[in-house]
Amino acid sequence: MNKRVRILGIETSCDESGIALLDASRDKHGTIQLSLQYNFLHSQIATHRKTGGVVPEIAAREHAIRLPGLLTQLEKKIPLSELKKSIDAIAVTSGPGLVTSLVTGVEVARTISYLWQKPLVPVNHLEGHIYANLLAGGKWPIANGKTIRGEISDGKLPMANGEGEKGRTPGDNAANFTFPLLALLVSGGHTELILMKRHLSYIVLGSTRDDAAGEAFDKTAKLLGLPYPGGPALSRLAKQGKPIIKLPRPMLDKKYNLDFSFSGLKTAAAMQIEKGGVRKADMAASIETAIVETLVEKTCRAAEQYLPKTIVLAGGVAANTKLQMRLAEALTVRAPKATLLTPAIEFATDNGAMIAAAGAVRFLLNKKRPLVIDPHLPL
Ligand code: KG4
Ligand code: ZN
Repeated sequence: MNKRVRILGIETSCDESGIALLDASRDKHGTIQLSLQYNFLHSQIATHRKTGGVVPEIAAREHAIRLPGLLTQLEKKIPLSELKKSIDAIAVTSGPGLVTSLVTGVEVARTISYLWQKPLVPVNHLEGHIYANLLAGGKWPIANGKTIRGEISDGKLPMANGEGEKGRTPGDNAANFTFPLLALLVSGGHTELILMKRHLSYIVLGSTRDDAAGEAFDKTAKLLGLPYPGGPALSRLAKQGKPIIKLPRPMLDKKYNLDFSFSGLKTAAAMQIEKGGVRKADMAASIETAIVETLVEKTCRAAEQYLPKTIVLAGGVAANTKLQMRLAEALTVRAPKATLLTPAIEFATDNGAMIAAAGAVRFLLNKKRPLVIDPHLPL
């Protein structure tokens, strides 16, 4: 039996306020299709650039100020009375993240839920990142050993503020999001390899023992004097350099299996920079290559070991085009039967659509979890 739902998604776990309206359906074969209607985002990057990083109290205050404005933007597209009538549930990030930021979003969601008498669907931010791949967008499908270049967004944010998935093909990702599924989750706070044998079930195969991949980008970018957030800035500078500086590729030894460690890379880069005589662009290229090669190698190992049908790239660092390309190339050889999905750039970094997406799956499959605001919420 076909089931259709409409979900309002709210994201405020760190420094992006996001609101999205998403329609979702589940057909008799169990395939879940998503159709994003509206997606609004307010990024606090400009605010936090002044301090070189996120100040939690300022982030929370910004969320409180901006969320009503984002709701007003949505209300301009769909009158409040219609919105109230048509939505089935409100999905909101309950963790992991900054506690002050999480509380702001949850309180807004809880208020709407109470006033409109609609159920609240708490969503884990990390599962949101994984389910961003169920939204249409950029992807690099690999089929039968051939890599077909998918549509990769050019870095602009066409979807960040406004209409739904015009010009995209919502069905594609739904057909490809099959299990077993391996996710490489790389964000500012997390680096994990996750195996999913079915929807909403997560087995963590490996994770970082110290810094996350995004953190490694951000910290080394800071050493190079680049602005916050470091990842995109370092990646841009890397395009003008060559990866000629020797940096460690930690944990590639077999005995470490699928865990990661990035803090040694930061120390090695700091020492080289202090010694002097290195071109900044070469250093940026060397750092990016070291991080990307480590991530790609571990993902390939996990793919060889667990033989997933689908491999997805998730989290803010998934926006890195070098990572997307290198992973696609390597998997063509080492996991030729798997399909690789990467989120469009605007769905890679934090947004409301991914929370609505994961919330829709939880709601459609009747897998609602109790609300617990937890800055360290595990998957
Ligand atoms: O998922 P996300 O938006 O927030 C968290 O949940 O942490 O990820 C943010 C992280 C930051 O560390 C940022 O530097 C990194 O993703 N990032 C990138 C790129 N775009 C964002 N890292 C490398 N290359 C990029 N193009
Ligand atoms: Zn995130």
